[in-house]
Amino acid sequence: MGKKKSMAALALFVLAASALSSLPTPCLAVTSPYVRPRPRATLSLHRHDDADADGQTPQQVHVSAVGPDQMRVTWITDDDAPATVEYGTTSGQYPFSATGDTTAYSFMMYHSGNIHDAVVGPLKPSTTYYYRCSSDPSREFSFRTPPSGLPINFVIAGDLGQTEWTNSTLQHIAATEYDMLLLPGDLSYADLDQPRWDSYGRLVEPLASARPWMVTQGNHEVEKIPLLEHKFKAYNAR
Ligand SMILES: [Fe+2]
Repeated sequence: MGKKKSMAALALFVLAASALSSLPTPCLAVTSPYVRPRPRATLSLHRHDDADADGQTPQQVHVSAVGPDQMRVTWITDDDAPATVEYGTTSGQYPFSATGDTTAYSFMMYHSGNIHDAVVGPLKPSTTYYYRCSSDPSREFSFRTPPSGLPINFVIAGDLGQTEWTNSTLQHIAATEYDMLLLPGDLSYADLDQPRWDSYGRLVEPLASARPWMVTQGNHEVEKIPLLEHKFKAYNAR
């Protein structure tokens, strides 16, 4: 193409581009009646109200399915406590028990509590099991196992965080008849502030201790500090 011709083509392109950019921006709201609600306040989650509870009281209890007929129970105690789960199908009676492992982690100046986990089973499908952790008599929990076949009802909720919207989401989930929750990333939004992992654990415990709470990691779980803290440290420990 000659130089004159290509200059003319370029001028035409610039003219067309500037004409397009001066058009009013299309209004996307026209295609959907949905209006994104405004953010709500971050929850201020203080330590457990049960200040009289001793350091062996289980907290942040959550369960996750392991294979077809087992469940991993994970919980945290401030003090040393056995990594034992006692369980059975009648409230207050625990004919079975399983013992697992205890770990802990540090992140900068933060030191976690004792993080315990134990795998219980084999379990019957569609059955409610009552359990207690570290033989602590003050808190009994229960979970229901998923059915052995279809249909299985899943709840899927990501980006939970800890705001007043989180409360709203958890209330909606609690009002739902479901077998297993899938959380595809962005759990606590602790974003390096490790006590926020603990407050998140307490916030979700009523649901997370009652149905399999199946999580995977999102970008908020990375929490890497170059040269100081490796990625996914809290997420993997918890
Ligand atoms: Fe997110």
